[in-house]
Amino acid sequence: MILVISSSLHPDSRSRILARASIDRLAEIGESAELFDLAVTSLPACDGASAYGDANVQELSKRIHTADCILIAAPVYNYDVNAAIKNAVELTGKAWTDKVVGLMLAAGGQGSYMSAMGLANSLMLDFRCVIVPRFIYATGESFEGNQLADDSIQNRVNQLVEESVRMSKALA
Ligand SMILES: Cc1cc2nc3c(=O)[nH]c(=O)nc-3n(C[C@H](O)[C@H](O)[C@H](O)COP(=O)(O)O)c2cc1C
Repeated sequence: MILVISSSLHPDSRSRILARASIDRLAEIGESAELFDLAVTSLPACDGASAYGDANVQELSKRIHTADCILIAAPVYNYDVNAAIKNAVELTGKAWTDKVVGLMLAAGGQGSYMSAMGLANSLMLDFRCVIVPRFIYATGESFEGNQLADDSIQNRVNQLVEESVRMSKALA
């Protein structure tokens, strides 16, 4: 199972469109996929203590642990991913161990294209995740309404999905 985590809390999120596009592609290539949307299933702020016992945190941990691969769709905030995905990783910690992880970002401008690296580094160093070396980085002009409207980003989503599946099978 490939788990897609959408971390934007915005009701009209563009990174959620990327998450859905990846799920559509997974379906096309016959892979089972699940979406975990942090805007739908809210998580408590990580306090390093009682928050680990929250039912939604435990559910997310279980799904991450079960997944063969995880694709993260996140907004760029302040030259980094948003706090919601950092919080989710803090809460689920060791469930990420040895997972293959792909990253898809929605941003306001081109200048923040390195913003996936903080999360990628922490997943590699903390949990020995294998980061798929093929990021998606999309800005506003790649979307129309609630649709992806950019063939090159669509192709990159397809490539990320296929490469993530290939790597997770190869490493299984
Ligand atoms: C608090 C905040 C900080 C942001 N910081 C950046 C930034 O550093 N670089 C950037 O390119 N866009 C930045 N943006 C723009 C968002 O990345 C953009 O709106 C993107 O579409 C958000 O993803 P979403 O639509 O999935 O929520 C910021 C937006 C907000 C609300």
